[in-house]
Amino acid sequence: MNETKSKDTKVFASKIGAILAAAGSAVGLGNVWRFPTETGANGGAAFILIYIFFMLILGVPVMLTELAIGRHGQKDVMTSFEKMSGGRKGWRLMGLIPVVAGLLVLSYYAVVAGWTMYYAYEAAINGFAGKDAGQYAQDFGAFSADPIASVLWMVVILVMTAEIVALGVQRGIERAARIMMPLLFIFIVVLVVCSLTLPGASKGLSFLFMPDFSKVTGGTVLSAMGQAFFSLSVGICCLCTYACYFRKDVNLVQNGFSVAIIDTMVALMSGLIIFPAVYSIPGLAPDAGPSLVFITLPNVFQTAFGSVPAVAYTFSLVFYLLLVMAALTSSISMLEMAAAFFVERFGWKRPVAARSVGAICVVLGTFCALSFGEWQEVTLFGMGFFDLFDFIVAKLMMPVGSFLMCVFVGYVVDERVLRNELTNGGVLRQPLYPVYRFIIRFVAPVLIFMIFANELGMFDFLKK
Ligand code: PFF
Repeated sequence: MNETKSKDTKVFASKIGAILAAAGSAVGLGNVWRFPTETGANGGAAFILIYIFFMLILGVPVMLTELAIGRHGQKDVMTSFEKMSGGRKGWRLMGLIPVVAGLLVLSYYAVVAGWTMYYAYEAAINGFAGKDAGQYAQDFGAFSADPIASVLWMVVILVMTAEIVALGVQRGIERAARIMMPLLFIFIVVLVVCSLTLPGASKGLSFLFMPDFSKVTGGTVLSAMGQAFFSLSVGICCLCTYACYFRKDVNLVQNGFSVAIIDTMVALMSGLIIFPAVYSIPGLAPDAGPSLVFITLPNVFQTAFGSVPAVAYTFSLVFYLLLVMAALTSSISMLEMAAAFFVERFGWKRPVAARSVGAICVVLGTFCALSFGEWQEVTLFGMGFFDLFDFIVAKLMMPVGSFLMCVFVGYVVDERVLRNELTNGGVLRQPLYPVYRFIIRFVAPVLIFMIFANELGMFDFLKK
């Protein structure tokens, strides 16, 4: 532990570093892959409006709560909960959430992150050119079912992630975010501009921005809430872990809103890349499901820019590199959630903790990767390992964790401690504080209960 301190101060060096690291965690495959998929499946603009509403009413308040709890302790999540509760030891147990969730979420996220890396490689060697439409589906099926290839690419991602975390909070996590996040924005802007020049652009735009509320069902509303959660990384103490490294002068409210705005912009811009491109090909529909990014898009990019092969090549490469970077800044935060626990609670050296967590994820992730091929038939509670891990994290731990956090700060924590944290000891004026407090006590717990109930199928009758 001492070594960690001497080599790397356990605090984000700058305010912008703190914002970029938190935004790096939030911006990920959830924005560039899950958001367009969900938007496509749920009818476009109406889904987006509802999603933004839930971001504001639910995502941001829970995020501010996590930031306040983490920054209050300034050490690790366990200490933060205990300190914030006024010394009640039982609340320490909340500190176990990030360890378990971190290991589980990274294990399946790394599988998809590995796919993106393989696709970046394929794009780099011009592997998408000259195929016919059916071949993209065949190739993806063969790759994801190949035990060696899919595990290998997952290991590449996990090794990179672990080595970055091993470097420390400033030299690893903060530096990675400072390099990758600006690059990611540049890539996105370039791709949006290219995509908007395509012939189908206006159709794609109206799909994204012209709401058709007749498509809204109970299921749409609840999916939008779930997406807001996943996209902001809230509910499993990920941002709480990062907030332990925030300096006392960081404005948590400003940080939280900045992250939410960046996250939403990236999601919308991913839509601006994907939908105009998809609509530029006659006969293609955007509701292609999770295969959108790995089957539909490689085909779309080749066809849409087919007249200028160099543009098709560059567009594909930049798009998959963008996905890799988005995945990496998120996977770093996932690995840190678990590694921080071993560093702080057991005094392990940071590189040892980071590599050990990485190694555990290689084992767990192998189970997830193989569930697309060799072990397709192996199920637990009716799900393959990949789906099971996703279910436990996104559908159980995130809502339950958020609910507990709202109850904690809404009813257990001394209100002055909370206000103090969010106003930096009274230095900052936070005029929206009463609104936040109301939401966190009365609105968020009810909404979260609804998501939870939905995920468990209690609202299935609403989905037609
Ligand atoms: N928010 C990330 C994304 O949109 O891809 C995913 C994520 C990161 C979820 C970190 C949970 C987490 F703790």
